[in-house]
Amino acid sequence: MGNNTVTIRDNTTGKTIDCPVKQGTLGHPVIDSRALPNELGMFTFDPAFVTTASCESAITYIDGEKGILLHRGYPIEQLAKKSTYLEVCYLLLNGELPKSDEMQTFQKGICRFSVLHEGILNFFNGFRRDAHPMAMLVGVVGGLSSYYHDEMDINNPEHRDLCAKRIIGKMPTIAAKCLRYTLGRGYVDPRYDLNYVENFFNMMFSMPNKRDDVDPVAVKALEIMLILHADHEQNASTSTVRLAGSSQANPYACISAGIATLWGAAHGGANEAVIQMLNDIGDPKNIPNYIEKVKNKEVRLMGFGHRVYKNFDPRAKIIHDVCHQLLECLDDSQRPLFDIALELERIALEDEYFIERKLYPNVDFYSGIILNALNIPTSMFTVMFAVARSAGWIAQWKEMLEEPGMKIGRPRQLYIGADVRDYVPMDQR
Ligand code: ACO
Repeated sequence: MGNNTVTIRDNTTGKTIDCPVKQGTLGHPVIDSRALPNELGMFTFDPAFVTTASCESAITYIDGEKGILLHRGYPIEQLAKKSTYLEVCYLLLNGELPKSDEMQTFQKGICRFSVLHEGILNFFNGFRRDAHPMAMLVGVVGGLSSYYHDEMDINNPEHRDLCAKRIIGKMPTIAAKCLRYTLGRGYVDPRYDLNYVENFFNMMFSMPNKRDDVDPVAVKALEIMLILHADHEQNASTSTVRLAGSSQANPYACISAGIATLWGAAHGGANEAVIQMLNDIGDPKNIPNYIEKVKNKEVRLMGFGHRVYKNFDPRAKIIHDVCHQLLECLDDSQRPLFDIALELERIALEDEYFIERKLYPNVDFYSGIILNALNIPTSMFTVMFAVARSAGWIAQWKEMLEEPGMKIGRPRQLYIGADVRDYVPMDQR
């Protein structure tokens, strides 16, 4: 941190204030505006937090202009190529890559927590058969707080670790149960002899009459998808988890709040919306018409654009290649949707409207296509994202609680309502 300051002057009173400028390891410096209310009697106004850094964090770094994404300093390209999802979870939580014995212990801990209590499975019976899997996920993950509340002293580091392992262990089991409930199939217990992703596939798709070997190309594709979605610094759902956690709420309830935020189509719901959009377009010949609707602002091109990445999304580059590899190995029934996606991508990347606004395909443009190719129903796409992101949510929650002097999050507002006025009795209104 240097000694640089920025001077803010109130032109009405002439009063000035020197705000310290803080510089992190990488990225833009930030103006520490905390003295403003006391010194100038003012707050800052930043709807949607477009320019506000809400916290210090050492977990993930994004450079939106250069298309860089680092977890604990490691580039996402290297992690996607060389690591596993579970190793990335360890890295996000602990700050360093694990040694072999540390990884084994971590893996065993996650396995141990992957089983669901019979009572948690019973929650599902209360859901309608056609309930959206995200609705079930929000409810069931929130419901975990009724099981582990007594073991959840958020000021106890061991309890926080336990909670992190429980979340990472149970998310695929709950997600698989959401899918099977929708399909009317019975619950499949986790298997300790399989790795995290193989086990996830097995819990989702295992049938008594079917060999349960999973295609290694499919396993690799899902592994990469999980790595690419594991964390993304202070996005909407992570900020929600932090805000809920800052009140010292139960962490399972906080993760449930994150899941609720992820559900929206402007965030994690985009992967589902991409497939709906591709189905609506139906044929590459209908794309020009659709692009016209986008330009008239009747619809948005789902899977395009990003609040932070303004040149390209580095995750999209990686997943684009996985998408191609996967589709080469799969049957022709997946082809038509992929052809529409390719043509849409080509036109959008060449069209001035999208170039001007820096609208590039984001990670969810391709992740929807991958999940579709893996025979995962569209309504499950955001659930898959939530499984991946649970690592980031819980790592960010832990980091916040470990901060000395952590305070409850409490944004301010610019009030534009009625001035003070007297109550009018009903017969005089
Ligand atoms: N399709 C068409 N036009 C778009 C799109 C899009 N997907 N995204 C932005 N624009 C246009 C806007 O209409 C606006 O145009 P204007 O200047 O003529 O008014 C301009 O680009 C800026 O748009 P904003 O909404 O201000 O951009 P913002 O940074 O707030 O939004 C967001 C980012 C929400 C991701 C947006 O691009 C979007 O809605 N994309 C589609 C949904 C999506 O794919 N979400 C996934 C995000 S990635 C993730 O969560 C993992």
